[in-house]
Order: sequence, then C-alpha cells, then structure tokens
Amino acid sequence: MISYFKYEVRDFFLMNDNSHIDSSLRTVEWKDNKVVMIDQTKLPNQLVFVEYDDFNQVADAIRTLVVRGAPAIGVSGAFGLALAALQSKASTKEELIGDLEKAKKILFETRPTAVNLKWGLEQIMKVANEGNNVNEIKELVVKTAKKMAEEDVQTNMAMGKHGSGLFDDNDTIMTHCNAGALATVAYGTALGVIRATKESGKKIKVIATETRPVQQGSRLTAFELKHDGIDVSLIPDTAVGYTMAKGLVHKVVVGADRILRTGHVFNKIGTYQVALIAKQHGIPFYVAAPLSTFDLQSNPEDVVIEQRNGSEVTGIGDKKTAPDGINVINPAFDMTPPELISGIITEKGIAKAPFGESIKKLFEAN
Ligand code: MRU
Repeated sequence: MISYFKYEVRDFFLMNDNSHIDSSLRTVEWKDNKVVMIDQTKLPNQLVFVEYDDFNQVADAIRTLVVRGAPAIGVSGAFGLALAALQSKASTKEELIGDLEKAKKILFETRPTAVNLKWGLEQIMKVANEGNNVNEIKELVVKTAKKMAEEDVQTNMAMGKHGSGLFDDNDTIMTHCNAGALATVAYGTALGVIRATKESGKKIKVIATETRPVQQGSRLTAFELKHDGIDVSLIPDTAVGYTMAKGLVHKVVVGADRILRTGHVFNKIGTYQVALIAKQHGIPFYVAAPLSTFDLQSNPEDVVIEQRNGSEVTGIGDKKTAPDGINVINPAFDMTPPELISGIITEKGIAKAPFGESIKKLFEAN
C-alpha cells in the first residue's frame, strides 16, 4: 500500500479558491490498475490519498473506515474484486472464478449492513461468469467496475434533480452522518439533493449533526458543505430536539445503508431518533438512496446490524473519555420504520407511502 500526503486541508481550500469542490476529485477511483481512495480517517485535517494493488488492502480499508458510506463501499468492493482478478495466477476460467469467489467472501465480510457492498460484488461476479477465458474476464471485470463508478455519479445527480423539488427557498435542512460526495464516488445522495437544491437557485441552510461516535457529521459533512460554500451549522447529536422544537429545522434528509421493500430504512445510528423527533414536530423526513441500496428480499429481523469496537465510544480521537473496563454497546446502524418517513428519493423518482406499492413501481419501471 502506498499512502501519499497531498495537502494540508488549508492549502487545498486555497488551491480551490474556497468556492467549490474540485469536480475531478473522486472518493474512490481506478488509476493505472490500482485503487486510489481518499483516506477519510484523516479528514478534516489532511487530504491523504491511499493507493492499493491488493484486494486484501481494499478489504482492510472498508473495515477500518478509510472508505465508508454505502455507495462508496459498493464501488470499492467492485474495485477490490477487479484487483483480485488482476492478482490471480489462474490459467483457466474455473480457477479464476474460484479465486474471485474467495476474494468476494473476504470483501463481503468487511461490513454487514450496507447492501450496496453485496450488490457491487454480485455485479462483478455476474460479468466474470459471462467471460469466456481468463484474459477476457480480467478485462470485463475492470471495465465493469469502472463503469459502476461513473454510473454512481450520474445516479446521484439524477437523485438530486428528483429531490430538489421537495425543498423550498429559505429552507433549513437537517442531515445526519455523511451521505455526501465522500460516501459515494462523487456528489452524494442526501448531500447531492442538497447540492441540487442550491444549484436550482434556492437559498438553503444546513444543520449537520456531529454523529457520534465516529463523527462523520463533523469530520466529513461539515467539511464537504463548508468547502462547497453551503451555509452549514454543526450541532451535537443531543441538540436535535432543541433545534426542532425551536423551529430551526424545516426538513430532514438522510442517506441509507439498506431499504427494505416495506420502506424500513437502515442508516447510521441515531437516524431513528432524528426521525422520531421530526415526527413529533411535524417536520418532513426524507431519505435519499439509489436503487442499489434496496434489499427487496429481507425482512427487518434478517438484517445484521454491525456492532463496532467499544473504543469508538470510550474515547474521542486519542483522548479517553470513559473509565477502563466499561461495557459498551456500539451498534453502527438503526432502523427507521416507514411511518416516520415522508418520502424516499431515488434516481428513478420519489417513493411515498404506502411504500410497499410505490417501491414496487419504481423497480417495475426500471
Ligand atoms: O458507518 P458509515 O460511515 O459507513 O455509515 C454511513 C451511513 O450511514 C450513510 O448515511 C449511508 O451509508 C448512506 S451514504 C450515501
């Protein structure tokens, strides 16, 4: 693995005149038969790129949150399999498929909740099985993974267009976690909708929750939006009720890691609380996610919620904030039921209650 320091974020701001995200910047991309990613664990202080030529390194990057966010994980999984294909010494199609199946298992087990990972891996296995020989398969999987990355950006932009009509001039929009450019290849899902609303000429403000324990809200969302010149205020997660009760929030938009056919939404821990408080105050609560985030097979009780290391809760950064030996419960995601959701924005349109029917229609039209 090569890690190369690019800029102090301060320098990066200056380079870009502090007015817009460099549109060529990608969270994850394929370059010269390597996978290049922004190391998100270093943000917001440093913009560091890491370069991988081994699928095991990509698996580690997903596990340790170097790359995170459901769509970004999906594309990273696909790129990981493309690396596995290039690494393979197989001389027959059967041997190569065997190597890819082994790599798929390792990549799949890195994070269990975001369904985009499974989706990305399965897309690659499908084209690999269609190839006739080793060289053709290698070519096909690299081409398909690169295409998936490009399509992710187009999908987010289409989602943004559909979603921007839901927001009005002078709205203040709350978001939780990071469903932005950094959670996708570029542009973002929930933050893509916010970007598209701004691009449509409406004046908007954003309230970003800090999103403990890993602080994707303060480290990533606040960074992205500030960099993009969008008016953003950061709040501790505990101030969601206060800001809503004070009338400071007009609408909420968040991303998703998995959406079931019933409209149950799995997203970053704390999303359920935000949705409940929004309901209490009559504030519309929207979810923005591509069709690749839908899991039409599972029931709510089938979905595995990732439990992360307790050290994320017993400290902030390197600073210990809890007594030694304390028991910790640290689920990474929770489930928001459909009755708290006003609409689900996708690249194909907006699903509304009853979600069973509207989600089915989106897929039938696809
Ligand atoms: O643990 P993370 O940072 O991968 O969790 C990310 C989220 O929960 C996002 O809201 C979700 O993946 C949607 S990203 C477009």
